[in-house]
Amino acid sequence: MAKTTSRNAARKTAYLMDCAKTYYPEPLTLVSGQGAYVTDEDGRRYLDFFAGIAVLVAGHNHPSIIAAVHDQADRIVHTSTLYLNEPVLDLAQRLSEASPPGLDKVFVGNSGTEANELAAVLARHFTKSSEFIALAHAYHGRSAWTVGITGLSAWRNFGAEPSKIVFAPNAYCYRCPLHLTYPSCEIACAKAVEDIIKTETSGRVAGYYAETIQGVGGIITPPPEYYGIVKEILDRHGILFIADEVQTAWGRLGHNLFGISDWGVIPDIVTSAKGLGNGLPISVVIARREIADAYQGPHINTFGGNPLSSRAAVATLDVVEREGLTANANTVGDHLLARLRDLARKHTLIGDVRGRGLMLGVELVADRKTKEPAAAAAERVLDACKDRGLLIGRGGLYANTLRIQPPLIITREQADEAARILDEALTVASNDVARA
Ligand SMILES: Cc1ncc(COP(=O)(O)O)c(C=O)c1O
Repeated sequence: MAKTTSRNAARKTAYLMDCAKTYYPEPLTLVSGQGAYVTDEDGRRYLDFFAGIAVLVAGHNHPSIIAAVHDQADRIVHTSTLYLNEPVLDLAQRLSEASPPGLDKVFVGNSGTEANELAAVLARHFTKSSEFIALAHAYHGRSAWTVGITGLSAWRNFGAEPSKIVFAPNAYCYRCPLHLTYPSCEIACAKAVEDIIKTETSGRVAGYYAETIQGVGGIITPPPEYYGIVKEILDRHGILFIADEVQTAWGRLGHNLFGISDWGVIPDIVTSAKGLGNGLPISVVIARREIADAYQGPHINTFGGNPLSSRAAVATLDVVEREGLTANANTVGDHLLARLRDLARKHTLIGDVRGRGLMLGVELVADRKTKEPAAAAAERVLDACKDRGLLIGRGGLYANTLRIQPPLIITREQADEAARILDEALTVASNDVARA
């Protein structure tokens, strides 16, 4: 059991289950947040470049979102899905109108895991098949089904697979699973989906799940051609494309409300959660009308369509639009990406820098030739950043990728400050590696 000194760390050890892991040898207790900053129990302020887990698109405690939540709390906070409430109808209408053409019907739940569960139910009913394709290094949630379609062994740690799932290679250009190089590869990983359908399934497959950019898997960013090729294959075989936009929606990728639109394809089902409620628990499944209608239920969700979360979600969408957060994610994201590439020129610990908008990844390696993953160095960088007032995340199959997913409100100055701290933290980690 971890040695802890702070009072809250001791209480965590005593009362919270060990399975819920916290970052850092000394876990942080956050007591307040404002904009891009959070404050801990000792009054220390941090620039929050992980936003929970890639959640707070509009920053902590955005005044107009908090005002909407207060107003709703004074009216009604719970109805269940058995009754209608105005906020959930407002949200469903708004999403139906803002989604790519054809994605008309919405179900509002509580978490990304739940959204991916319901997407599978819809796909099974619509296609009358229970076979699915998922991607290597995928992360889709923590229920038995979503663990089944997760392609990271560290997160496949419970549950029997409830139906047939096969995995396709992911578009991980830095470590190509097919040992090819972009663009001469001609996107062989996308074309491999066809071979997998023909050789590893009955040919009747319900759905293909993909995170638009794999987040937990280490900000794996497919090349521009990838989803177009996959979608054409799926359409030919009558397979539904389920885009897991839990991390990539709500402007984070810097061009569109939904990240998948950047690849120029329209999925059959979109699932999302995280940033939509700007911190309040909410998820959505948005499906083509005929797919949604193929499942007549009954389906119930006690906390689904929650008026408080739905009100927060509508207010968040208003802020994203009014404050131009998608455009900000693009311009500040490009600026930060350039700063990270500068760091890659200075620190040999950096093997790859990738991502779009404000969903960026920095993969650390012990040796650029062998690409040996540097997981311990990544952990050291996280801790050294925290000591200097910057919070970032970590992911990847080898736990060696720094995840940078700040609120979409950040300024260029804050991006520069984060890059400055990261520079120092990389120096600390490199010195540690050299000493070891
Ligand atoms: C892409 C993706 N899908 C699904 C989930 C599960 O969402 P939740 O933790 O809200 O259940 C996550 C969580 O990190 C995620 O990143």
